[in-house]
Amino acid sequence: MNPTRISMSNRIRTFEEYQKEYSYSVAQPEEFWADKASQFVWQKKWDRVLDWNFEKGDSKWFSGAQLNITENCLDRHLPEKANQVALLWEGNDPGEASQKITYQELLNKVCQVANVLLEKGVQKGDRVCLYMPMVPELAIGVLACARIGAIHSVVFAGFSASSLADRIEDAGCKVVLTSDGAFRGNKKIAVKAVVDEALLRCPGVQSVLVLQRTGEKIAMKEGRDCWWHETVPAASANCAPVPVEAEHPLFILYTSGSTGKPKGVLHSTAGYMVYAHYSFLNVFQYDAGDIHWCTADIGWITGHSYIVYGPLLEGATSVMFEGVPTYPDAGRCWEIIDKHSVTHFYTAPTAIRSLMGFGTELFSKYQLNSLKVLGSVGEPINEEAWHWYNDHVGKKRCPIVDTWWQTETGGILISPLAGITKTKPSYATLPLPGVQPILVDAEGNELKGNNVEGNLCIKFPWPSIIRTTYGDHERCIQTYFSTYKGLYFTGDGCKRDEEGYYRILGRVDDVINVSGHRMGTAEVENAINEHPQVIESAVVGYPHDIKGQGIYAFVICEKSDKSAEALRQEITSVVSKIIGPIAKPDKIQIVSGLPKTRSGKIMRRILRKVAEGDISNLGDTSTLLDPAIVDEIKAGALVPLKA
Ligand code: PRX
Repeated sequence: MNPTRISMSNRIRTFEEYQKEYSYSVAQPEEFWADKASQFVWQKKWDRVLDWNFEKGDSKWFSGAQLNITENCLDRHLPEKANQVALLWEGNDPGEASQKITYQELLNKVCQVANVLLEKGVQKGDRVCLYMPMVPELAIGVLACARIGAIHSVVFAGFSASSLADRIEDAGCKVVLTSDGAFRGNKKIAVKAVVDEALLRCPGVQSVLVLQRTGEKIAMKEGRDCWWHETVPAASANCAPVPVEAEHPLFILYTSGSTGKPKGVLHSTAGYMVYAHYSFLNVFQYDAGDIHWCTADIGWITGHSYIVYGPLLEGATSVMFEGVPTYPDAGRCWEIIDKHSVTHFYTAPTAIRSLMGFGTELFSKYQLNSLKVLGSVGEPINEEAWHWYNDHVGKKRCPIVDTWWQTETGGILISPLAGITKTKPSYATLPLPGVQPILVDAEGNELKGNNVEGNLCIKFPWPSIIRTTYGDHERCIQTYFSTYKGLYFTGDGCKRDEEGYYRILGRVDDVINVSGHRMGTAEVENAINEHPQVIESAVVGYPHDIKGQGIYAFVICEKSDKSAEALRQEITSVVSKIIGPIAKPDKIQIVSGLPKTRSGKIMRRILRKVAEGDISNLGDTSTLLDPAIVDEIKAGALVPLKA
């Protein structure tokens, strides 16, 4: 027996065990992670656990190993769990029957789609784009890609045709999986039409597999498009898992950064698998028989790691919801929790804040007594929302896990372990074993000890760290590994309090977090600038009661007869068309100039202050090319100003 091995399972049960595991993970990271990896099925075991060099942006885990992640998500569980529900699907309309897909059924369905992909010529390493609503076929499609070693790139179905085309082109996708339309609240949304428009720019796409969901009439392109229901059920339900190398790419997921163009964050197979599972099990403290519901969309990393991979790797039951929390009314989430005896509920602060607005009367209709653990993700959770969640949803008996992580981290890095770590409102608390956070000042000097505030970096690799930005490794190095030599830079500001607890303060770069969605300010500016009358624009975030941050755009337009209101509407629809409705500015102020320094740089600090409504301390404006512009901007501000 290995004397340094603390626990025989991957599961931590007490705070003392957490502390021991944490120390062990720092002292002997390779032994620690080899131990965690040993429960999985490997076609070939690894030769080396870790090779890394942060200066080159390189991390390699479990080199020499071969595996298939779907064998670990599905086949591995069959001896005991063939008839256990793997995916529990709840439709947009409460009147539609729920679907309960067992592990055996899920494996069969995954194999059928995998066989269809093979027939369409998809091979190991090929990229497949999925642009679909939250229906079981989305999860099935993702797993079907992994079954044959194809790389999935899920694009959130709220993105525009232009954003979709950018992502399909960047990844060089060969096949697209989609649906005719989508149901979302009381709306029916065209999906295939968006794909058709995007594909005008993507000649490399050879096949489109179309799920019938809404039944609306759509165009089908001969030779390229085929219906899911005409091909998938006829395919064989056997498809051997294709073994891939540990570092074989599993998926690409696009995310916004401080530059205009979204990056394709690439995750590879073995390390992601080990970490998605380890973090799921320990943060949520999932027990056999529990029902885990993560409300995210699979178009984001949260859905990848905590609807699909994490839960399935544990053999859990994972809920997938097609609709929105406010349809048909604001009690929908509570109704689903009671209906399916949900034990774990994982959502975003923005959803909590929007439901808070409906008052507490609705709760009298629901029991919510199946709940054991509540989770929060995507943005800082303010204390008021934390207490409301704790009091009214958790009834003060469910631990809240405020989980901090990113698309690039693949899994939760800083979070309480449910019921184990003492929680504190708005604190993500402590790092998971294997995660070594460090706070640095602007020059990169380590801020040691407690009661410090700085930029959050991680100094040692964890298994699900980003491997590259697809097709451009230099960009990966520049974005994450160059700001502070030898460190992974998260882009977040963070405080470590007197107890050593971490509190995330928000982005320190030009990224804003709108309802938990990351938006690059440059990306929104580029879209605004596409309006023919726009000369220049500058976008900043501002505090928003429900969304966390809202988008405030300052725009210079050519002279015209149009009213400011007409221009605002046109600019909003341009942004919606270019990026998608999630990027629509909340406020657009038409200005005659922007506060620029003599070297032409926009002083965003001033714009941020105005957007926040706090002009008490604008700082030195004497270096501006035209200091008078600040008065004009203040006078036309779209928020009340506090001097
Ligand atoms: O600023 C942090 C914020 O969301 C960013 C990551 O966004 P994304 O890659 O879209 O992933 C979101 C879901 C994992 C982070 O850099 N963020 C995420 N979780 C938290 C958070 N901010 C505060 N507290 C959190 N729990």
